[in-house]
Amino acid sequence: MAKQRRIYRCSSCGQVHSQWMGKCAQCGEWNTLFEDVLQETRSIQAARTRNGAPVPLSDIVSASSTRKKCGIGELDRVLGGGVVECSLVLIGGDPGIGKSTIMLQMAHNLAASGSSVLYVSGEESAVQLKLRSERLDIVSDGILIYPEVVLEEIRQQIAAIRPDVVIVDSIQSVFSSQVDAPPGSVSQIREGAGILMEVAKGMNTVVFVVGHVTKDGWIAGPKMLEHMVDTVLYFEGDASGVYRILRTVKNRFGTSGEIGVFEMKSSGLVEVSDPSSIFIHGLGGDVAGSSVMATVEGSRAFVVEVQSLVSRTNYSMPKRISIGPDHSRLSVLLAVLEKRAGLVLSHSDVVVNIAGGMRVSEPAVDLAVVMAIASSALDRPVKKGTVCIGEIGLGGEIRPVNHMEQRIKEALRTGFTHALIPASNRNSLDFVKGMELTPLSHVREALETFSR
Ligand SMILES: Nc1ncnc2c1ncn2[C@@H]1O[C@H](COP(=O)(O)OP(=O)(O)O)[C@@H](O)[C@H]1O
Ligand SMILES: [Mg+2]
Repeated sequence: MAKQRRIYRCSSCGQVHSQWMGKCAQCGEWNTLFEDVLQETRSIQAARTRNGAPVPLSDIVSASSTRKKCGIGELDRVLGGGVVECSLVLIGGDPGIGKSTIMLQMAHNLAASGSSVLYVSGEESAVQLKLRSERLDIVSDGILIYPEVVLEEIRQQIAAIRPDVVIVDSIQSVFSSQVDAPPGSVSQIREGAGILMEVAKGMNTVVFVVGHVTKDGWIAGPKMLEHMVDTVLYFEGDASGVYRILRTVKNRFGTSGEIGVFEMKSSGLVEVSDPSSIFIHGLGGDVAGSSVMATVEGSRAFVVEVQSLVSRTNYSMPKRISIGPDHSRLSVLLAVLEKRAGLVLSHSDVVVNIAGGMRVSEPAVDLAVVMAIASSALDRPVKKGTVCIGEIGLGGEIRPVNHMEQRIKEALRTGFTHALIPASNRNSLDFVKGMELTPLSHVREALETFSR
């Protein structure tokens, strides 16, 4: 059945927009947009290019042999060693975090290594992209810029050009003429992701799709888009800060939980290959309210600084603010401190922050959080050169954590010489030269280290 959809076409440059605007975002002309109707008779089903016949498992080519390096080490790392051909990758994150920047940098590197790249820009005009590319010092003939928002047109172009890599920036700005809903709506995004999936699998190309995160943290619709794609990468960090963390939330072709660390400069995103160097400054011991822990993200360990500020409250309900560690975990740890170690903070505001905009969700951070809070409450710094690693149970017991050796080695490498660790981890840990280990079995013992 033929479906119709209202669009707005620029009489000056021919650009199609989903909404009426006074000024064309493509050519900058005023009052040139006129209403048009897009007729689509071809059903999406008929246009599907995937061959539905069953194939013997032994005949299928292994994906590991068809990985493509993106040329950005930290991006390849989060993708699991390069991007797998015919896959659909979603890059999510807050506006201004650097999604378009990393996509353009990746396009440049891929083009330099001989791949053809089609950059579909539904948000920014070709001129805006050109300005960014000049700032990032990217000049490449291998990148085709295509400002378009109608998915059927995009699919047609991809079928004609057959690029190795397609970047769609962003999923919220493109729409299918088959669906009578505004761009960015759940049904448009579902349809869009479906079409792009068909493009990736059927036309033998890699599709990267950019997605903005809505205020409540979803990438457009409750996890729907994340379920549909092969890989989800998520940009974390403060858009106003300099460090950006790219995290694998889901990966059908590799481990999830891997992170890539970048620094945002005017010349673009620069890889940080030694994250420990940016998350800590010095070995502590100077100020109260700071402790250091060694965390493991994916295959890599690095040290982070947990900071805390405990102050007398002026409210009937004391404030608990957590930037970095899990918020509900903070409440649990404060209750454990009060009940099991006698440190009462019910008349104090407690702020906990992980320096550098890093988010640590693993329970191994518990001991460092507790030590930072106690250090601030008692106004006594944690001993210089100390790392604190351990999970804390509701009974106040300090529970073992995984990858202890890797954590200790990273702490040692960055100059730390003393570690507070769970007693139950001590036996499984080989003797580590240069690191003095203090095994602890209860949170009370951890607080006693301040009076030593
Ligand atoms: N002229 C500039 N100099 C330095 N940094 C810039 C400049 N312009 C933009 N940026 C950085 O790039 C970021 C925007 O990146 P962008 O890739 O457009 O984000 P997104 O696509 O995720 O919305 C800004 O937050 C800023 O940090
Ligand atoms: Mg962008």
